[in-house]
Amino acid sequence: MTEKPTFYITTPIYYPSDNPHIGHAYTTVAADTMTRYKKMRGYDAYFLTGTDEHGQKIQRRAVAAGVEPQEFVDKISENFKKLWELLHIDYDDFIRTTDDRHIKYVQDLFQKIYDKGDIYKSTYEGWYCTPDEAFFTERQVGEEHICPDCGRPVERMQEESYFFKMSKYADRWLEFIEANPDFIRPESRRNEMVNFVKQGLEDLCISRTTFNWGIPVPFDGKHVVYVWFDALSNYISALANTGDGSLYNKFWPADVHLVGKDIIRFHTIIWPIMLMAAELPLPKCVLGHGWVLIDNDKMSKSKGNVVNPFVLCERYGVDAIRYFLMREMPYGQDCNYNEHNLALRINVDLANDYGNLLSRSTGMIDKFQGSIVLAPGEPTEFDAELIELAKATPARFAELMDKMEWANAIAELWKLVAKANKYIDDAAPWALNKAGEKGKLASVLYNMVEVVRLTTIMISPVMPTLAEKVWKQLGITDRTDLHTWESLTWGSFPADTKIDRGEPLFPRIDIAAMEAAAAEEAAAIDAAAAAEEAAAEEESQLEPLSTDMIGIEDFAKLDLRVVEVLECEKVPKADKLLKFRLNMGLEERTVLSGIAMHYAPEELVGKHLVLIANLAPRKIRGIESQGMLLSALVGETLQVVEVPGMTPGARIG
Ligand code: MSP
Repeated sequence: MTEKPTFYITTPIYYPSDNPHIGHAYTTVAADTMTRYKKMRGYDAYFLTGTDEHGQKIQRRAVAAGVEPQEFVDKISENFKKLWELLHIDYDDFIRTTDDRHIKYVQDLFQKIYDKGDIYKSTYEGWYCTPDEAFFTERQVGEEHICPDCGRPVERMQEESYFFKMSKYADRWLEFIEANPDFIRPESRRNEMVNFVKQGLEDLCISRTTFNWGIPVPFDGKHVVYVWFDALSNYISALANTGDGSLYNKFWPADVHLVGKDIIRFHTIIWPIMLMAAELPLPKCVLGHGWVLIDNDKMSKSKGNVVNPFVLCERYGVDAIRYFLMREMPYGQDCNYNEHNLALRINVDLANDYGNLLSRSTGMIDKFQGSIVLAPGEPTEFDAELIELAKATPARFAELMDKMEWANAIAELWKLVAKANKYIDDAAPWALNKAGEKGKLASVLYNMVEVVRLTTIMISPVMPTLAEKVWKQLGITDRTDLHTWESLTWGSFPADTKIDRGEPLFPRIDIAAMEAAAAEEAAAIDAAAAAEEAAAEEESQLEPLSTDMIGIEDFAKLDLRVVEVLECEKVPKADKLLKFRLNMGLEERTVLSGIAMHYAPEELVGKHLVLIANLAPRKIRGIESQGMLLSALVGETLQVVEVPGMTPGARIG
């Protein structure tokens, strides 16, 4: 037996500093789709993902959460695994950079490059962006000291460090790129990287001493290995797993590292040069994809627009979410997520185009042929064009899939779906049935089913749970030979198959109702935000706390009493004054208070308030006021201090 060709694909290993979001889901779904596709094409495919658990950022997050870094990453790493399970991600290995196998590999690699003379000790002085875990020069951060990648402030660093002689490899790197133009894809990214290296490479600081959450440098325990040197090694450390080198021998060099556009530089410059220094083969390709934007904006926790994939899967189904991601992101560019776009895709592509093709096929076979798919009879004038397209589609689809242009590949496939729906309208099987044209009717219904079968096979790597349901409806669950790529030959569907018409697989989403519910939710959120803002504003208007300290004896001088308002009225010709008659238990008091602008007198009758009962009486507008009611200025409003339910006359203290 001839050996299967191999295919090794990786995702970046994700920082478990926050829970996974829809952007992480994109890369992982893409890698999974590609793996499933390659397996279907007869490859021995290996798919690696994992988590990148060391570094200053993670350590700081753990400290903030009040737990040990290991405990912190254990929990979030698990959440990544849970999401991958939900999304039907069928990875072969999940590497964690805190795994012993990885730590050992990184230390060996560091030692190997050091022994070769490409790592030396010196002092680093420059700028560091902790969220990106990246070093920058004075020129790169500019006068404002802002990270050129993410725009956040950078930190000044001065430490004794180990340096990697990147500069030595600049020419070799340029030669390599010239000889391997497909190494960096898309082309625009390659040009960016080439221009970057042509300006000259600086040696890279690859150890840190100011924190300890990392892999110790093997020969100098004061230092931990720079997190990117550590992380990039995962692509090989995971293969070194077996000890006998069989996985490494089989799968290295990787066929493709899938990465987001923000980390292309690390993968296309630092990683290949590490491998050159270690005298190891270089991966075949780094594919940089765009970002999932949210309403055309970058996703960020501070903007509160991070989309939780767990919620989306629950609401719309895993296959639909996977389809959306793979269809929506144009090759090498960003895509825009919002719920409206998602619902539209589901309604148009899945419910209308594909779903209708399936349900029209099974519905009419049920109705017109007693649920039996008959062998094609007499052809109709519309058949040839449909069949020609159906025969040509697999090769076109494959070409785009092989180039990892997933959105284009799906678009190509959907041309066939659209054609088949048009074919139904043109051939009008209901009219053929009415006219008793049984031969033609059998042909049309057969062709419809065959297009469904072919489309389902090709889309199955994107929507892994779909095919099984469709095979059941088409009555070919047990005919696994008809589910394969090889069976994409037109006309393989067995005649006389009994179908099992089921429920529609992609119910339409009521977009108007969904948007009304979203608007209601947004209004509630706005109201809550406005209330919060108002509260914050009130708070900001509060008087500063007094710094004049008093002793308890000073406080004890105050005789504070609970009083009940018996009567309350405005003082004639005084805008601000209210006159109270108060019940203070054993006696009554008359008190004036300047709160008429804030309360209507009748509002206050019956309330229990607090009175400074031993304040020397004073006359205001000819009336003796016997004490002072306590109140607080909140924003611009005076509010009396209320003590509801307390007994009039009780002393407070
Ligand atoms: N730990 C590093 C990678 C080390 S690989 C040796 C890292 N981790 S990350 O969690 O910050 O990002 C992982 C991947 O998610 C990156 O490829 C990044 O581009 C991708 N994405 C993060 N936000 C994204 C979107 N909004 N959309 C698509 N991908 C995005 O970087």
